[in-house]
Amino acid sequence: MKHIKIPATKFEINPLILNRWSPRAFFQKAISQDKIFSLFEAASWAASAMNEQPWRYVAVLKENEGEFQKLVDCLTPVNAVWAKNAALLLISGVTMHYSSNQKPNASALHDLGLANQNLILQAQSFDIYTHIMGGFDKDKAAGFFDADKNIVPVCMMALGYLGDPSSLDETLQQRENSPRSRRELSEFLQVL
Ligand SMILES: Cc1cc2nc3c(=O)[nH]c(=O)nc-3n(C[C@H](O)[C@H](O)[C@H](O)COP(=O)(O)O)c2cc1C
Repeated sequence: MKHIKIPATKFEINPLILNRWSPRAFFQKAISQDKIFSLFEAASWAASAMNEQPWRYVAVLKENEGEFQKLVDCLTPVNAVWAKNAALLLISGVTMHYSSNQKPNASALHDLGLANQNLILQAQSFDIYTHIMGGFDKDKAAGFFDADKNIVPVCMMALGYLGDPSSLDETLQQRENSPRSRRELSEFLQVL
């Protein structure tokens, strides 16, 4: 059965933000090409310092078995065990310098985060769930980007339609079923 985890919030938030969470169980259904391009179109409309758009992506569909397995092989074993069932895997990276003058771009990671969140919320609007992963081999992943362009891989992401947690082993099922929690606003916010 599909497992939807909607937390209780104190204040009203957009349903796309409310419904998003990071699952490990994916339903075996492909994502259409149109939807995939919509995800990256959404990413492209993020704000970025000097409109540099420093984000770079490598995306591989599960159907492309050989390349897909190469992305799975970049992941740490604890991530690979469930992420191999995603419909789409991607590596997101950044160029750390402005293309106009080669100066360091201190906002590059920030701007990749904006693009990734656009992509994630666009996916959520299609009922496609996303799970970001920092647990992967950065050197291996860098090999997917143009070596001359100094692109730094930042995180990988598994995407797919929501699956049944009973497809996971016991430990992962427990994580999948655990409630979601967040800090109180007062821990990170001062309204003056
Ligand atoms: C930069 C980053 C790295 C992450 N790395 C991993 C990872 O390697 N494996 C994993 O299972 N989840 C990973 N996550 C997912 C977080 O654990 C998850 O977002 C967090 O626990 C909050 O849960 P939620 O996304 O379901 O709200 C990562 C998330 C981010 C943003």
